[in-house]
Amino acid sequence: MAKIDNRNIESHLKEKRVFKPSREFARAARIKTLAQYQKMWRESIRSPEKFWAREAKELMWRAPWKKVLEWKPPFAKWFIGGKINLSENCLDRHLLTHRRNKAAIIWEGEPGEKRTLTYQQLHHEVCRFANVLKRNKIGKGDRVIIYLPTIPEAAIAMLACARIGAVHSVVFGGFSSDAIRDRIQDSGAVAVITADGSYRRGGIVPLKKNVDDALRERSTIKRVIVFRRTAADIHMEEGRDVWWHRELEYVNANCPPVALDSEHPLYILYTSGSTGKPKGILHTTAGYLLGIYATTKYVFDIRDEDIYWCTADVGWVTGHSYVVYGPLACGATTLMYEGAPNWPEPDRFWRIIEDHRVNILYTAPTAIRAFIRWGDEWVKKHDLSSLRLLGSVGEPINPEAWMWYQRTIGGGRCPVVDTWWQTETGCIMITPLPGAVPTKPGSATLPFFGVDPAIVDLSGKEVGPNVGGKLIIRKPWPSMLRTIYGDKERYKKQYWSEYPGNYLTGDGARRDEEGYFWIVGRIDDVLNVAGHRLGTSEIESALVSHARVAEAAVVGRPDELKGQGVVAFVTLKANVDPTAALKAELREHVGKHIGAIAKPDEVRFAEALPKTRSGKIMRRLLKELATGKTVTGDTTTLEDFSVLAKLSGAEE
Ligand code: PRX
Repeated sequence: MAKIDNRNIESHLKEKRVFKPSREFARAARIKTLAQYQKMWRESIRSPEKFWAREAKELMWRAPWKKVLEWKPPFAKWFIGGKINLSENCLDRHLLTHRRNKAAIIWEGEPGEKRTLTYQQLHHEVCRFANVLKRNKIGKGDRVIIYLPTIPEAAIAMLACARIGAVHSVVFGGFSSDAIRDRIQDSGAVAVITADGSYRRGGIVPLKKNVDDALRERSTIKRVIVFRRTAADIHMEEGRDVWWHRELEYVNANCPPVALDSEHPLYILYTSGSTGKPKGILHTTAGYLLGIYATTKYVFDIRDEDIYWCTADVGWVTGHSYVVYGPLACGATTLMYEGAPNWPEPDRFWRIIEDHRVNILYTAPTAIRAFIRWGDEWVKKHDLSSLRLLGSVGEPINPEAWMWYQRTIGGGRCPVVDTWWQTETGCIMITPLPGAVPTKPGSATLPFFGVDPAIVDLSGKEVGPNVGGKLIIRKPWPSMLRTIYGDKERYKKQYWSEYPGNYLTGDGARRDEEGYFWIVGRIDDVLNVAGHRLGTSEIESALVSHARVAEAAVVGRPDELKGQGVVAFVTLKANVDPTAALKAELREHVGKHIGAIAKPDEVRFAEALPKTRSGKIMRRLLKELATGKTVTGDTTTLEDFSVLAKLSGAEE
């Protein structure tokens, strides 16, 4: 009997379309050809220290480094002996140039206010607020929680911390008081910076009240600084809470940046693992800055004239790296938007692009699928001709969503960069360079400079083309996480123990015959059906490619015969009837696109899918539902509880 090799993740989705960068785009780009990219990439892998040292020279240093890299696996130190300040690189550096009076941040609030801060003005505000921090006895090495909406003050607070060497930990404004409390406890923070509220879909999110609730028990917090955003009625605790605007009255704008060691901690950002409590991912100063600087420059091929918009909330790593630090390090104009994409109507994003003449848009597949669902008529109402480049991040993008993005938003004119990376990696790792690398819908394509990814089987052996496996990174890179805050052992075990010396991403992927990476998704989202491993995202992609499907989530459930069976939760486009015939049709559709092995055993129609506030589908909950259990796992990160209730009471 033939032995079934079920160790590898099988990847059945075949995508044949290829889009070359237009000649016009390539001619103007920094990296103009595939050959140029390949040459630079090879050099960067052969001599990473040389490559990164060259890039690092474009930054402003207080003292030169003595050694580029010290690698004692799994601990890396970059630019040892160097002194640097991130806020100086994002601000002061540009004041010496024509950028002094250029817009650094263009902001739009959900209710519609607009604000622009030039580099000069942003510098002024950051210096003043850094002095407020000092006045409140917050200093180098102190941890500070930032719990703010996506408003300029979030960037100001982050940059002010970086200026004096305080370590910020931004907590997403959609998180609850429990999440704030846990993060305060884990980080031992001394201060919280928050607002009286934030706007979301016309309502007010009570940020300050959430902080008050989080501080009910004894904590390390001595000071809460409150920005007035909504003028909502809030409680101010005497002796603990102060108003941002009042504090500014006591300070001037003279605050020289502190020269910090390259490895000085910059921030802690909490991210959930598949199990257990959130992990505090620690990033340090010079390496992180270099990573986000180089990727913003090459991946977005950013220009002085560009208006660049990354739609992420500042509470996520994408907000850190590509709303605030990356674009400012490059002296670019970054647009920030506070609110929801469908407020007051589903065309808010397109309205913003038209109003501000946005050139680069960086958003997430979950948003793209929502736009598809809302209908093209919302897009067509607006002039999007200013766009020249589109980006995607956060999860695998289904080829159909990619195509829609490229055609309907990009007008077939803009390259699409599907960028793969993680909170842990700090910056983009696998991505096309828009002027050089031909793209294939659904593939994050090729590694960025200095990044050495591989796909391996269980024994750690690299697999051949089109064979699925685990994605690892074989070399340290400057913006890699340095540890899990306060838990070295977990850091070692989680990321470095399975293939010693190699970083385990936790994602499954395959490489095609041209070396392109196709990310399948998290390994825990991978099913094993009759000895075949199937990436759930591939089945989802197949489902979403059906004309009547808006969104799909696929999970496994135990199956006596096959090991695991496939259950698909499907939301349909507006006005489509959820009939039994359609279920059968969808099964056939998947069979046709991937193979009979991937056909869902069960298709369940749902009005909506349970998601985290960052838009990730919570498959864990769906798994429990698929197996007929009641949901018992942690639901604190679920955005909308009613979705779960409806699904539990769903048909069948
Ligand atoms: O599974 C990958 C998926 O998101 C994970 C990282 O999530 P997080 O740390 O929250 O960071 C999100 C923003 C970088 C990865 O392990 N992921 C992210 N980008 C992509 C992706 N999967 C496929 N394609 C991508 N472009």
